[in-house]
Amino acid sequence: MPKMIAMVVTHGGAKLQRVERDVPEPGPKELLVRVHACGVCHSDSFTVEGKVPGIVFPRVPGHEVVGSVEAIGSHVEGWKVGDRAGVGWFGGSCGYCDRCRRHEAFACENVQAVTGLTHDGGYATHMLADVSALAHVPADLDDVESAPLLCAGVTTFNALRNAGARPGEVVAILGVGGLGHLAVQFAARQGFRTVAVNRGRDKEAMIRSLGAHDYIDSTAGDPAAALQKLGGARVILATVTSAEAMQSVLGGLGANGTMMIIGAVSSFPIDPVAMIGKSSSVKGCYSGVATDSEDTLRFCQLHHISPMNEVYPFEEAQAAYDRMMSGKARFRVVLKMT
Ligand SMILES: NC(=O)c1ccc[n+]([C@@H]2O[C@H](COP(=O)([O-])OP(=O)(O)OC[C@H]3O[C@@H](n4cnc5c(N)ncnc54)[C@H](OP(=O)(O)O)[C@@H]3O)[C@@H](O)[C@H]2O)c1
Ligand SMILES: [Zn+2]
Repeated sequence: MPKMIAMVVTHGGAKLQRVERDVPEPGPKELLVRVHACGVCHSDSFTVEGKVPGIVFPRVPGHEVVGSVEAIGSHVEGWKVGDRAGVGWFGGSCGYCDRCRRHEAFACENVQAVTGLTHDGGYATHMLADVSALAHVPADLDDVESAPLLCAGVTTFNALRNAGARPGEVVAILGVGGLGHLAVQFAARQGFRTVAVNRGRDKEAMIRSLGAHDYIDSTAGDPAAALQKLGGARVILATVTSAEAMQSVLGGLGANGTMMIIGAVSSFPIDPVAMIGKSSSVKGCYSGVATDSEDTLRFCQLHHISPMNEVYPFEEAQAAYDRMMSGKARFRVVLKMT
């Protein structure tokens, strides 16, 4: 039996453990992917810290996967061995329920699959993926450069293109970590007046070089007032991991403005009267499905957008994860298979 290596979490809060396993065989609607690179996302902490009720251990995290197809299930069409493939947070859907037929497969009534959480992900040499979860990756995109686009990329690209802002309007990116530094590039290329909001000034020069037109240091004063000085934000894309940080900029929305919530934070109070006065809203944003990932990859190719990555050998997954959690990475950590 051929063998594979995986970095597994045995229980919530445990260190990643290197294990050798048999390479699994794909079920009828699955493909076996040989992983080439896997990004390390803050959402991997759901698995590593065991924060989600009902999570079954041992579990392999990782949902920013780029690899190649190595084996194909009996009912899969449209793929062949050797094709480049990407897998993100979206772990698949049934394809026939009401939600799927209405192009809302992320909310599929029958399958609630999350890569690296409900089934094993990409901190491994091989993984299985449902065919509905697989995105085609253009041949000329680099493995390491594409991997973060499968979650950090698609989530911010999708949120921005569906946020309702028009070119020239103020779009604020709150938090410039793994997701935020890609969001800045997308917002600038989508034609918005792009304002980065982050703690301190140490990332300012880098973020301006990625296309931000303005930078607000949220520790230097009231960030909501600073956004109002710019006319108020049509959109605030909130990628921070702090509820307080989100609450502190909410007042920076302009008329008909929307805060797009991406960071998975705890609840925070909103002021309904202030929101009524501006007809503003707060909206949660799901990452995206496989076709959204394909759109993201093509947009990045067209506009020469790529993440800034710190690359770790796959076997150093624990160090890579710790680096991401430290908040010091500039800006995405990616595991590269050796
Ligand atoms: N909705 C979705 O589908 C989706 C998809 C992917 C990720 N996520 C979520 O998105 C969030 C960001 O993920 P990521 O991988 O980009 O994380 P990351 O690289 O760790 O970046 C986190 C960002 O939050 C900022 N931050 C952290 N604590 C803060 C505080 N107390 N006050 C102000 N800013 C603070 C950091 O700023 P500093 O530079 O100052 O540290 C950094 O800019 C996570 O919650 C993740 O779970 C959601
Ligand atoms: Zn993610």
